[in-house]
Amino acid sequence: MTYEETGVGRTIDRLLREHPGLDSDGALDDLDQFHIGGADAVDLLIESLALAAGDAVLDVGSGFGGPARQIARRTGNHVTGIDITPAYVSAARDLTAGSGVRDLVRFRVGDIAAFHPDPPFQAAITMHVQMNVEDKAAWFAHIARCLAPGARLAVWEVCGPGQAGLPWPMPWSLDGTDSFVVTADALHASIGQAGFTTTEWTNETAWVRSWIARTFADGLPDGPVLPMLLDDGYTRVINYATALTDGPLEIWRGSFVRAG
Ligand SMILES: C[S@@+](CC[C@H](N)C(=O)[O-])C[C@H]1O[C@@H](n2cnc3c(N)ncnc32)[C@H](O)[C@@H]1O
Repeated sequence: MTYEETGVGRTIDRLLREHPGLDSDGALDDLDQFHIGGADAVDLLIESLALAAGDAVLDVGSGFGGPARQIARRTGNHVTGIDITPAYVSAARDLTAGSGVRDLVRFRVGDIAAFHPDPPFQAAITMHVQMNVEDKAAWFAHIARCLAPGARLAVWEVCGPGQAGLPWPMPWSLDGTDSFVVTADALHASIGQAGFTTTEWTNETAWVRSWIARTFADGLPDGPVLPMLLDDGYTRVINYATALTDGPLEIWRGSFVRAG
C-alpha cells in the first residue's frame, strides 16, 4: 500500500537540523506540498475560497501540512487538517511547531467519515486525495457534512480517462491497486451528487504543464524536496510529471458551495 513510509519523522528531524532556515515561513514549499503545482496551486485555491476574517478552514487529506500552513500564513484564518496516515499527521505537526503559524494550524488523524465537527467549518479544501477513494460521491458527502450551509469547497484534482497505461509508481499509488482515477465529468458529477453547487470547474492542465516546465527547467530545486520524504519518491514524481506532460492525465480545479 501507499503512504506507509517508516522514515518520514527521522528524515524531517534530519532536514530541520541540517537546514535551520526551514522553520521560516514559506521555506518548506518544495518539501511539504504533496501535489503538482506546489505553493502556486494553493494560492489559486485560496483566491476561490474568498475567506472572511474568522472563517475556519478544513483541509481534507492534509498530508505534510503545506497547504494548511500556507492558507493560515496568507489569510490569518484558522485551519484544521485531517488525514488518515498517522506518520504524515505527526510530520505535519513537527513541521508546524517551529513555524510562524503554529497557533493557527492543527492536525488530526482520522477518517472524514467519522469526523463530526461542531461547529461546522466555513470553508474546505482537498488536494490530490480523491484518487485514493473509490466511492467519491460518499466521500464528498462526508466533507459536505463537516461544512456549514453556504460554505465553500476548493479542489485540485487529478483526472483522466482511466488508469490503464499509467507509469507506476505514481505519487498517490505505488502499483495502481489503491488508485481510482476517473474522468473530469465523472468526478464533477460525484461532487454535485454530494450536495455541492458549482462555482467553477476548470481544466488547469495547460497551467500545470507550464508550471512543470518552469519549476524543473534546471532539474529539482536546491535543498529539501518532497521526494526525500517518499518511498521511491524521485521515480514517482518523474512518472507523474511525464504523465501530465505527455500522457493522458489532467488537473482540474473546482470551486463549489455547499447547498443550504
Ligand atoms: C498525495 S497526498 C496529498 C496531501 C496534501 N493534500 C497536499 O496536497 O499536500 C494524499 C494524502 O491523502 C491522504 N489520504 C488518502 N486517503 C484518504 C482518506 N480516505 N481520507 C483522508 N486522507 C486520505 C494520504 O494519507 C495523503 O496524506
